[in-house]
Amino acid sequence: MTKQQTWSQRFESALHPAIALFNASINFDIELIEYDLTGSQAHAKMLAHTGIISQEEGEQLVAGLEQIRQEYRQDKFHPGIEAEDVHFAVERRLVEIVGNLGKKLHTARSRNDQVGTDTRLYLRDQIQQIRNQLRQFQQVLLDIAEKNVETLIPGYTHLQRAQPLSLAHHLLAYFHMAQRDWERLGDVFGRVNISPLGCGALAGTTFPIDRHYTAKLLDFEGVYANSLDGVSDRDFAIEFLCAASLIMVHLSRLSEEVILWASEEFSFVTLKDSCATGSSIMPQKKNPDVPELVRGKTGRVFGHLQAMLVMMKGLPLAYNKDLQEDKEGLFDSVVTVKACLEAMTILLQEGLEFRTQRLAEAVAEDFSNATDVADYLAARGVPFREAYNLVGKVVKTSISAGKLLKDLSLEEWQQLHPVFAEDIYQAILPQQVVAARNSYGGTGFAQVKGALLSARDQMTAK
Ligand code: ARG
Repeated sequence: MTKQQTWSQRFESALHPAIALFNASINFDIELIEYDLTGSQAHAKMLAHTGIISQEEGEQLVAGLEQIRQEYRQDKFHPGIEAEDVHFAVERRLVEIVGNLGKKLHTARSRNDQVGTDTRLYLRDQIQQIRNQLRQFQQVLLDIAEKNVETLIPGYTHLQRAQPLSLAHHLLAYFHMAQRDWERLGDVFGRVNISPLGCGALAGTTFPIDRHYTAKLLDFEGVYANSLDGVSDRDFAIEFLCAASLIMVHLSRLSEEVILWASEEFSFVTLKDSCATGSSIMPQKKNPDVPELVRGKTGRVFGHLQAMLVMMKGLPLAYNKDLQEDKEGLFDSVVTVKACLEAMTILLQEGLEFRTQRLAEAVAEDFSNATDVADYLAARGVPFREAYNLVGKVVKTSISAGKLLKDLSLEEWQQLHPVFAEDIYQAILPQQVVAARNSYGGTGFAQVKGALLSARDQMTAK
């Protein structure tokens, strides 16, 4: 290892090797290299634009940085621990390429505003990718929903059979969660997309820089108005982690349902071989590893959010090295959310088959039409609470007689209340029970059809 001087001449001896390793971030912040190069190119252009360096110097710096980009893409750039972080690694290589001129790149800049810029550029890209993935996930939900408006599925509260639902309605609930995730990431994007470049170490710079110029080159929407805030703000990353955590909440809830549905006890879905795994000892098993992993990975994203909040809470202004700890959790959250979205999209698209026959039987063989009997009475003038009590009674006697509501004779109904007529049988058919819930946002088929149309509309929003 050639001993290269990183620090000013104030330092006489090198770092202890273990401390160098402890201090370094190159092993993980190499992830930012393309953004670091892009940010540095914008900075070099600005230095030339403002006359801080010459036009020609600016061009050479930009070309040198571009060469590093090519080297990196061709897997020829492998900075080691001695570079400490991606910013130093790039600067060192630049000096090798363009000579002493490379040492001018850091004029009017600090690694503090530099790393903030890189992280924002990175997150901007990732947010776009995740939003696109959310769209694909929504698309698949809609495709399945459209085919299953009239497929019924038991609806639950407290995981007890409650009222039957259109399967499309159930799936649309996840569509709307994903829609909010998509919108939320759009909001976060707005606050990620602000440039800290030019805030310097903490106080700005003595050079006549043009922060709006670099912001424009980098497609930032605006610039931080306060240099201290600019270099030490990580709200944007925390907000992203909040949004990522909510995506995981939603994916995890869906996962939990799929796991239940795939169990022998529910048997609502069959897992296809392409998305299920076996057991090494029990030959009969087919395991829902995909949703289990999604559910399991959710915790680490929540953990990264918590870690970032705690890391920030005691930091005095402005930059502190603690901030270097913002990266691994952020990167891991991005990787995790993307992998989970992809896996769940594939699972829905080709890994699951709803057992519609079994679902139809399920909704026909329970008391989830009991509310409809109470509604029947209430619609005919019986006060709802009274009707509710009467139906509770008939459910109880039916259970002990081993009957369902549909098995009661008209006589039995009329003994309960004289207002019952032949049409009670129609009113308690599962298909009718669902169709009748036609209030806005309800599971009635007409509502669901309308909801599908507006969902399609929402998908076209930018
Ligand atoms: N590797 C550092 C980080 O990720 C870059 C900024 C270092 N700044 C400093 N003043 N030591 O935060």
